[in-house]
Amino acid sequence: MKVAMLGSGFIARFYAESLHAQRRKDHVVMVYSRNEDNAKRFADDYGLPHYSTNMEEAITHPDVDVVLISLPNHLHEAAVLACVKAKKNVICTKPLGRTAAEAKRMLDAVENAGIFGGYLEDLCYTPKFLKSIESVKRGDIGRVLWAKSREAHPGPHSDWFWDKKKSGGGAIIDLGCHCVEISRNFIGKNIKPMEVMCWADTQVHPIDAEDHAIGLVKYANGAIGQFEVSWTFRGGMDLRDEVMGTEGTIWLNSFLRTGFEMFTTGNGGEGYVAEKAESNIGWIFPVGDESHELGYPHMFTDMFSAIEEKREPLESFYDGYVVNAILDAAFKSAETKIWEPVMIEDWRGEEPKDTEKQQKSYDDTHYLIKEEILPNGDVTVILKHKKTGEVSSKVTKA
Ligand SMILES: NC(=O)c1ccc[n+]([C@@H]2O[C@H](COP(=O)([O-])OP(=O)(O)OC[C@H]3O[C@@H](n4cnc5c(N)ncnc54)[C@H](O)[C@@H]3O)[C@@H](O)[C@H]2O)c1
Repeated sequence: MKVAMLGSGFIARFYAESLHAQRRKDHVVMVYSRNEDNAKRFADDYGLPHYSTNMEEAITHPDVDVVLISLPNHLHEAAVLACVKAKKNVICTKPLGRTAAEAKRMLDAVENAGIFGGYLEDLCYTPKFLKSIESVKRGDIGRVLWAKSREAHPGPHSDWFWDKKKSGGGAIIDLGCHCVEISRNFIGKNIKPMEVMCWADTQVHPIDAEDHAIGLVKYANGAIGQFEVSWTFRGGMDLRDEVMGTEGTIWLNSFLRTGFEMFTTGNGGEGYVAEKAESNIGWIFPVGDESHELGYPHMFTDMFSAIEEKREPLESFYDGYVVNAILDAAFKSAETKIWEPVMIEDWRGEEPKDTEKQQKSYDDTHYLIKEEILPNGDVTVILKHKKTGEVSSKVTKA
C-alpha cells in the first residue's frame, strides 16, 4: 500500500517508523503538513518522494492508495470528508471523533461512499493483547466478568490536547478511548454497553478539561468494564489491563515493565528511553521495540490486508463510533454524578437479553459455592441447598 500521511507530528513519526521498519512493503509516499519546513523534513527523514502543504493535493495524489490521518482531534472530520470526496480509503488515529455525533458523521460518510474506514486503535493489536483475546475467545478464562484497563502518564506533548475545544476533553477522550476499546474487546464487541458511571476531576493542571478520571461501563450481559485514565501520573507511561473471568485471570503490562530494566548514572550520556519516560538516569525501564509493544505493525498489517481482502478490519470506524458513544456517557455522568445511558442510535451487535445467573451444581440437591484445600490438608466444600437456599459446609479429606 502507498500511504499519504496527514500530519507530521508525534504519532505520524511513530506510524512512519513502523511502516518503514523491517523491510515492510507498505510505505508512506506523501506527507501533508501545513508548514513546508516540517513537510520537507518529514519527507527527507523517511525518504518520501512527495510532500505537500495542501491537504487535498496530498489525498488526491495518484500514487496514494490509502490516507492515514495523524492530525489533532478537531481536524479528523474534515480530513475524513476530504477522503470521502476523493473516494480514497482512510485510516484514522484515535479518538475517531470528539463526540459520538462527530464520529457518526464520519462513519456514515465513509460507508455511504463505499470506501474503507479503519480505526487505528493500536493497543488492541499488541502481540500480548492479540494472544490474550485468543485465549478469551477459546474460553480459557470462562465468562468475562470484569475488564479493567488503565492508561496514565504525566500529560501530552502538544498544546492542542490541553484545549478542550480542539481535543474534545482531557484524559477521558485522549486515553479513555484506548481503555474502553480494550475492555470492549475482552467483554465482547457484540455485547451492548448500557450505562456509564464516571468520576472525573482536574486535580493538577490549570485546564478546563479533566486530568484524571475513573469510569465503570455496564454491559448487557452483566459484565463490567473499568477505565482509569490520568494525565497526572508520575513515572512514565503506565499501560495495564486486568481481566477477571469465571475460570481465570489475565494481567497485561504493556509498558514500564516489559522485562527490560536498567540502571545508569547518566555519566555516560543521557538519551531517549521510551515514550513519556520522565527520567533517563537511575533505574529506568526502556522498551525494546516500542512500535511492536504498542501494536503498530500488527495494526497496519490488519488494515492493509483488510483493504486487499475487502473485509472489515478488527478495528473499524464503527468501533470508533461506539467508543465515542461510551465516552459521551462518561462525560455526562461525571457532571450528573449518576449512571448515564450509552446512546447508540446505530447498534449492530446483539440485543440485550435476560442472562441466567449460572450456578454450578455439586449434586442433585446442592449448588457448589466454594471448594478449598485447608492448611491441614482437609478439603472443605461450601454448599447451597437448591430448594431452601440454606448454606452449609462439608469437610472431606484431601
Ligand atoms: N497511540 C496512539 O494511537 C496515539 C498516540 C498519540 C497521538 N495520537 C493521536 O494522533 C493525533 C495527532 O496527535 P499527535 O500526538 O501526533 O499531535 P502533534 O501535535 O504531535 O502533531 C499534530 C500534527 O498536526 C499538525 N497540525 C496541528 N494543527 C493543524 C492545523 N490546524 N492544520 C493542519 N495541521 C495541523 C501539526 O503541525 C502536527 O504535524 C491525535 O488525534 C491524537 O489523539 C494517537
